[in-house]
Amino acid sequence: MTAPTVEQLTTDPHPALATLRRDGPIAWVESIGGWMVVGHGLATAVMRDPERFTVDDPRFTTSRVVGASMLSTDGADHTRHRQPFVSPFSPRASRAHFAEFVARESARLVGGLAGTGTAELRTELAAPLATACMQMALGLEQIPVTELLSWYGDIVSAVADITAGAPLPDSGRTAYASLSGAVLEATRTGHGFLREVADAAGALTTAEMLANTAVLLFGGIETTEGMIANLLLHLLADPSLVDQVRSEPGLLDAAIEESLRLEPAAAVVDRYATEDVRIDDVVIRRGDLVVVSLAGANRDPAVFPEPDRFDPRRDNLRRQLAFAQGPHVCIGLHVARLQARSAATAVLGLPKVRLDRSGTCAPTGLVFRKPASVRARWDT
Ligand code: HEM
Repeated sequence: MTAPTVEQLTTDPHPALATLRRDGPIAWVESIGGWMVVGHGLATAVMRDPERFTVDDPRFTTSRVVGASMLSTDGADHTRHRQPFVSPFSPRASRAHFAEFVARESARLVGGLAGTGTAELRTELAAPLATACMQMALGLEQIPVTELLSWYGDIVSAVADITAGAPLPDSGRTAYASLSGAVLEATRTGHGFLREVADAAGALTTAEMLANTAVLLFGGIETTEGMIANLLLHLLADPSLVDQVRSEPGLLDAAIEESLRLEPAAAVVDRYATEDVRIDDVVIRRGDLVVVSLAGANRDPAVFPEPDRFDPRRDNLRRQLAFAQGPHVCIGLHVARLQARSAATAVLGLPKVRLDRSGTCAPTGLVFRKPASVRARWDT
């Protein structure tokens, strides 16, 4: 089996994933050099089985830039890395620390746009909201956003360089050192709600604490930007849905889950087989790359009938897998949902807000999926 191409998986993967799924929950995909899991049941089982499907592999390049973290470890080591961050990101702590800030920041950003009658909501709302939120969490408000994002860009391209076989570039090393210095300073001066983490992080070295903080920062910006942009696109594309959500506010949370199901902002997660595993007539060899397609699993018709249809009234929406499952389940999911809810509430408060289709694109991306542009118009 050779199809689909990387190009197909990047632009519109859903038809190709549906074709793969017709032959079973897993298929070898030549273009990515690994297995792709597209069935909901198997995707869940793989993510819940870190002993046989691990993230702990030298091919996982992020750890070569920032060092070992919760994202790149499994078993007892993973628990040690993740534990200090669990309580600050619990549902209650997420609400206590973020709800007010996120509501205020969403209202401020949308308020600043209101008089113009039009905006591109990914770059003018989703991205700055996600960035401000993580800046606040880590106590990095004093760092100009452009500087923070340039560190981000340098670290992401260092990861890409290493993945392509090149050595770690100096720019990546320098950016990570600058970020680490700023986080350490914030921790020392008691900024950011993660100061609690510093107290609870006794089992982590300073380098490990910094690596996990970097993973939080980078895990929390691009994904949340994509999640909000995808949600606004799904909502505004259907004026009757906007009316329903306005008159029935409880429906917004359901629409958020349904948007995550249809277009998970992180479309795939990677695992590596630690032993030979047989699944029906497929044998995965020890060391094989196993890519779990969250986008594919989320449209498995055995779980979600008529999977390509946006339907916030499904009774099993919480079975969507956009935040993964198992030990690596997203630690920031409560904060991400808060941001999506606040951003959408602020946008739906704009008079006669509607999508400008000519200025709007469909989501794209192999790993992180979001629309390049979501242009909205409203009355002033
Ligand atoms: C405030 C925002 C967010 C923060 C701080 C955050 C942080 C994190 C962290 C630290 C992890 C690693 C957990 C571990 O390995 O034990 C993680 C995992 C994950 N996050 Fe998030 N995240 C955020 C938002 C999102 C969003 C919006 C999405 C997608 C819609 C997302 C999808 C995922 C997925 C799929 C994983 C699992 C990775 C894997 O299993 O390999 N995250 N997140």
